[in-house]
Amino acid sequence: MQGFAGKVAVVTGAGSGIGQALAIELARSGASVAISDVNLEGLAVTEERIKESGTGAPVKVNRLDVTEREAFLLYADEVKQHFGKVNQIYNNAGIAFMGDIEVSQFKDIERVMDVDFWGVVNGTKAFLPHLIASGDGHVINVSSVFGLFSVPSQGAYNAAKFAVRGFTEALNQEMAVAGHPVKVTTVHPGGIKTAIARNATAVEGLDADELATFFDKRLANTTPEKAAQVILDGVRKNKARVLIGTDAKALDVIIRILGPRYQRLFPSVTSRFMPGPH
Ligand SMILES: NC(=O)c1ccc[n+]([C@@H]2O[C@H](COP(=O)([O-])OP(=O)(O)OC[C@H]3O[C@@H](n4cnc5c(N)ncnc54)[C@H](O)[C@@H]3O)[C@@H](O)[C@H]2O)c1
Repeated sequence: MQGFAGKVAVVTGAGSGIGQALAIELARSGASVAISDVNLEGLAVTEERIKESGTGAPVKVNRLDVTEREAFLLYADEVKQHFGKVNQIYNNAGIAFMGDIEVSQFKDIERVMDVDFWGVVNGTKAFLPHLIASGDGHVINVSSVFGLFSVPSQGAYNAAKFAVRGFTEALNQEMAVAGHPVKVTTVHPGGIKTAIARNATAVEGLDADELATFFDKRLANTTPEKAAQVILDGVRKNKARVLIGTDAKALDVIIRILGPRYQRLFPSVTSRFMPGPH
């Protein structure tokens, strides 16, 4: 893949799944990468795989919890100091949670918002001054197909991913209006074969293992490597929106055709094939 040589790219949640594949693909494409995660074992695997690829790409590895705002701000300055500039931030770190709003605890909903929304806000705000200063910046924020439509049991995740979309689409327009040299991309993956469902939590009464197995077998159709390629292709083309997978593309069309009426149709479809409460 061309277009990343000499760029400095930051990837959060780089210890697994899409983030890991992004970091490896960016390094392979000639970028210097700053990778972080709370999962240090996964992060070490990512670093090893970048080194094994023999590209000689410079890698900076840090433990970073995206919910820790002060640490994120310090980290941004540290990455700038280390590489001399920062061109791209991939706000990718995320978690999943399953449960109807009626029975979800406030703390469960807050946790999803903290990581999936505030983590993205922290990363965007921390790095934006450096991206503007680079003269060639790009913010890439990972939402989901669940940032395009809602489904039962995903209220917290839907809220966070819709919020990422709203925030990122506003930022895109603001950068253009201000004349800042920063492109902005919102990413909406469909089902990607990662650890997201295995790492997910659920309300009491839902079998998280059964849900993860269902996700792995029935919903996750795209590899993280393919997802990373689609994202980087979108970044090269300065796309405002990147949809990943035929599922995401089909659902995007269905939602646009149905409009708000999807809310009448989807529950009967999902309740027919999704595992439910026990
Ligand atoms: N897999 C899918 O089907 C899918 C679909 C749509 C959107 N997404 C989004 O893609 C992104 C990547 O997810 P993935 O599928 O690769 O999942 P994953 O679980 O394989 O990877 C997510 C990584 O984020 C890290 N992380 C979690 N909380 C963190 C925190 N507070 N600070 C720093 N790192 C943290 C995890 O340790 C993990 O390494 C997420 O934002 C997710 O919501 C995934």
